[in-house]
Amino acid sequence: MFKRISALLLAGLTAMSVASCGGGSGGSGGSGGDSVTMGFAQVGAESGWRTANTKSVQDSAKTAGVTLKFSDAQQKQENQIKAIRSYIQQKVDVIAFSPVVESGWDTVLKEAKDAKIPVILTDRAVDSKDTSLYKTFLGSDFVEEGKKAGQWLVEEYKDAKDPVNIVELQGTTGSAPANDRKAGFAQVIGADPKFRVIASQTGDFTRAKGKEVMEAFLKSNPDIDVLYAHNDDMGLGAIEAIEGAGKVPGKDIKIITVDAVKDGMQALADGKINYIVECSPLLGPQLMDLAKKVVKGEQVPARVVTEETTFTQEQAKQVLSSRQY
Ligand code: AHR
Repeated sequence: MFKRISALLLAGLTAMSVASCGGGSGGSGGSGGDSVTMGFAQVGAESGWRTANTKSVQDSAKTAGVTLKFSDAQQKQENQIKAIRSYIQQKVDVIAFSPVVESGWDTVLKEAKDAKIPVILTDRAVDSKDTSLYKTFLGSDFVEEGKKAGQWLVEEYKDAKDPVNIVELQGTTGSAPANDRKAGFAQVIGADPKFRVIASQTGDFTRAKGKEVMEAFLKSNPDIDVLYAHNDDMGLGAIEAIEGAGKVPGKDIKIITVDAVKDGMQALADGKINYIVECSPLLGPQLMDLAKKVVKGEQVPARVVTEETTFTQEQAKQVLSSRQY
């Protein structure tokens, strides 16, 4: 009898230790069994969009039963590289990250690949030629967003004969959304020489920098017709600068932004912004789904594009109360 109980206990203990040591196809030190441990290297907390994105990732990890190791790189690539290296050392099952800038990732991505830890790009792309360094890229089409901003402008000024003077607040220098939103916009407005980008500078996706750069634009350019800001936060900072200069945002200077976070939508409904191109930060649920699949070794699409829309002032009034972020 005693022997049978001991044998059962031993069998039970063995089963438990297998469950806690086993794990996904990636790192052997992950959470094991069917559960997944994800290392997520976030850009920072530079904007309302980013805060909503972090919440979406954290909430979705909880719902999906994914153990999340989270780090905030404070908009510095070297911090993100350090975080990724630490996730490799900890042998997580999967690494996900939103690259601060597009270039300079090949070495650390190769280290993850050599350690057999799959990587998912979320929100922003890298410019690595070797696409085997990551499993998939989940996020928006930023070129398309820039084009949508340009298309609204072309339609708005279709009857104008005079030149249209545009200032542009770019996102973080070298980041995919800054590069692509600029390119998409330029491609559309470039077809008509009356559209002139008279100043274009980075506002680093932050409200404070948006305000500071817009103040400088206003000082050196008395004749600004339009502001194109690569995100709502910079646009909101610029609105403060425009009001400070005694001008009326949305009227004296028309404003187009990207994101559609609640503060931006409020300013749109209030008539201070004229048009917003949506960029959804709610990537968490799809990310967890993709992560579970890649850890199991299942095939996933190389690119998953987020569905998005655009908002006029009227549309903003209608949806504002139900906006989640
Ligand atoms: O990568 C997405 C961009 O990053 C958002 O448009 C911006 O607000 C954020 O900081």
